[in-house]
Amino acid sequence: MMEADGFQVVSKKKAARKKHLKKPQVNLNLPQDNVDECVRKILDAKDVLQSSGGYNNFEHNLNNITRLTQTQGGESYKISSLVCYGLGLPSSSRIAKYQTALLLILRNYFNVEAELYDPLFTSVDTRVLQKFNFHVLSNNEEGKRSVKGVTLFFMPHCGKELYNNLLWANWNPVSLPLCIIIGNSFSSMVQNTLSRILKQQYKFIYLAESLFKEYPLEALVGYDDIFNDMSLHIIPEDLTDKQNDNLWCDKDEPKYVECGVEIVLVKAETSESKIRTCTQVIVCKSDKKFNELKI
Ligand SMILES: C[S@@+](CC[C@H](N)C(=O)[O-])C[C@H]1O[C@@H](n2cnc3c(N)ncnc32)[C@H](O)[C@@H]1O
Repeated sequence: MMEADGFQVVSKKKAARKKHLKKPQVNLNLPQDNVDECVRKILDAKDVLQSSGGYNNFEHNLNNITRLTQTQGGESYKISSLVCYGLGLPSSSRIAKYQTALLLILRNYFNVEAELYDPLFTSVDTRVLQKFNFHVLSNNEEGKRSVKGVTLFFMPHCGKELYNNLLWANWNPVSLPLCIIIGNSFSSMVQNTLSRILKQQYKFIYLAESLFKEYPLEALVGYDDIFNDMSLHIIPEDLTDKQNDNLWCDKDEPKYVECGVEIVLVKAETSESKIRTCTQVIVCKSDKKFNELKI
């Protein structure tokens, strides 16, 4: 359905009714491609995406990001940075290869530098990403990037903690609308998390869900484990008249104490904890089938 603001949209209810696939997880034991092989497969994946049935719809929504940001604040509001957290391992994951391909498309479309961080990147992943001239960050920001200008975040299938941290770091009426997020559907996260846990641990996701408008990424590829349950999130209005709302008052830094959290924290970033984080996660079945597929 076409909205008045020009975006192609699927209603939140409809989005929430979509079949929820198990969130893909990282498996460290899959065979790794070498750098050249991996680069080639990512370029092939980019071709697949650009010739897919859903691509026109996706590009249409990208055009509307440009239009909307310019309507809000003129030229100075155009996207100035692209940040990707939680890409996974392109050298061994088919899903991460396609997501890297989408990142290439986003970077080219907006003509900005792209910065990436995933604590699990191997040296092969880093070399592949550097071949594409991506800037691989060496610091774990824990998703707490405070934006200075309009920033597009690409956070494919990240844990809720990363989104919650990002929202916290920009929790004011000026910075929040500068964050455009392509990642797990906020409305799905809200609907699929126990209300008590949501309000205690992921308060900023809970509060932000009604501020952001979301546009599901649909049918970019035939394999729906790559972009499933992901949306483009954007705040369509100026929030400066909400400066005095209670909404902004309580912004204690989030702390994640319960086990099962899906974020690697700076303090815990030892090899042991990385291994623990990865063994908690389930093997992605479709990545097992990787060799049977073309890419
Ligand atoms: C569920 S996996 C998603 C991987 C891939 N994007 C996919 O869709 O299969 C979540 C990713 O978040 C990464 N991650 C965990 N903590 C992070 C942090 N502090 N900063 C950036 N990425 C992080 C993990 O290493 C993992 O690769």
